[in-house]
Amino acid sequence: MSGIEVIPSAKRLIGSLRNMGYDFSQAVADIVDNSIEAKATIIAIDVEFDGDDSWVRVADNGVGMSPEQLREAMRYGSDRKYEVDDLGKYGLGLKTASLSQCQILSVASRNNPKRAAISAYSWDCRHIERTNRWEILPLDRNGLGPAIMTPLKETTGTVVLWSRLDRILGYSQPYGEFARKRLSQMCRELESHLGMVFHRFLSGELKGKKIKILLNGNDVKPWDPFCRKEEKTKSLQQLLLNVDYEGTSGRVLIHPFILPHQSDFSSQDAFRLATGPANWNQQQGFYIYRAGRMIQSGGWSNLRTADEHTKLARVSISFSPSLDDAFKVNVAKMRAQIPPSIREELQNAISTVAKMARTIYDRKETRSRGTVPTTASTTNTPRLLPSSSPGAVTDPPLQSLVPGNAGIPVLLTFQQWSQMLLAVATEDEKAKLSEILGRILVQT
Ligand SMILES: Nc1ncnc2c1ncn2[C@@H]1O[C@H](COP(=O)(O)OP(=O)(O)O)[C@@H](O)[C@H]1O
Ligand SMILES: [Mg+2]
Repeated sequence: MSGIEVIPSAKRLIGSLRNMGYDFSQAVADIVDNSIEAKATIIAIDVEFDGDDSWVRVADNGVGMSPEQLREAMRYGSDRKYEVDDLGKYGLGLKTASLSQCQILSVASRNNPKRAAISAYSWDCRHIERTNRWEILPLDRNGLGPAIMTPLKETTGTVVLWSRLDRILGYSQPYGEFARKRLSQMCRELESHLGMVFHRFLSGELKGKKIKILLNGNDVKPWDPFCRKEEKTKSLQQLLLNVDYEGTSGRVLIHPFILPHQSDFSSQDAFRLATGPANWNQQQGFYIYRAGRMIQSGGWSNLRTADEHTKLARVSISFSPSLDDAFKVNVAKMRAQIPPSIREELQNAISTVAKMARTIYDRKETRSRGTVPTTASTTNTPRLLPSSSPGAVTDPPLQSLVPGNAGIPVLLTFQQWSQMLLAVATEDEKAKLSEILGRILVQT
């Protein structure tokens, strides 16, 4: 039976897709995803304020696109084969993220390292409005201004230029002081957002994927939610969970951290920096990564409620895009859900983590008030060392997160470790060991 093709109204659909819910930072991050995927090592973002003629540009030194590839890239729902760890997915981000912020999206690309042959096209909302057709406009050499040409003079790569920033500036007074301030505030938010969602790329911890992001010429610094450089941060045992979802299976890596108490940070600046874009309370919980890129920062995904006492607990959850359906990743890559099949296991694990975080938080609270620590669990576990030492507060009895190789639970309290060590030590070693354990207690 032959069907009847019903082509969507370009005007209506492109207009609706402008409202997919991206904010400025999320939209730029989606463009940066594309640059990373194109193997860029330097991504330069520039924001120019000039009233009506203001623009935002993302220029990368990736592999670039041929004219045919670029035309395909401009298509809503563009087609290509995705690799396992690709950041892209729906073939929409370039268009929807861009036009959620501006009326004209121009893309120029060069894929020949030897020749500065640049192809360029644009989507222009006014043209769509007039014609109601799915038409991109080729930009010939005369139509290419320096903003789009300059970054490709010396390198292959792609330039994404947003102009007529109606959503960013608000068009009633694009030259006003208000618009200028708004744009510079957005740049500040963008800087912290990029430093956060791409921190694993910026720090170089993802092998072969190190990038540099320049925002108006300044290096964007990685922000590590787990403060792994802080000496007193506790990195807990990792947990690997299997997820099977409608015929696809994959693994999810859970890595819990407990951040140090405020007084244990190396400096007050380091403590303030650790806060993150929202406040401490909201930044506790899960940091969900898809192919190394963060898509959720904080919050317990309905497994717990955020609580002042557990604010030091932050848990990294990493999955690969093969589990996108299981995590219900949305188009803008701003949301993911914990698959029901691992919720219980995860809940058990984090209740242990939360307990530890609470102990660290409470212990310091009581200590700073100068009172004798009174964690409920002190009665549960025998003390090994003199209770007069300030650190001799017993951790609550914790279950292990994962059994170790020899069946030894890996996440043990200090008390449990001490007992285990003393049980196997010779008489000579015992004396030495007690001395060492005592020293640890005094220092913590
Ligand atoms: N900076 C870039 N460099 C090279 N190719 C790009 C770039 N940006 C986009 N593309 C190409 O355009 C396609 C469409 O991008 P996009 O609309 O973001 O969808 P997705 O990333 O989900 O595939 C990408 O799959 C890629 O092939
Ligand atoms: Mg994309």
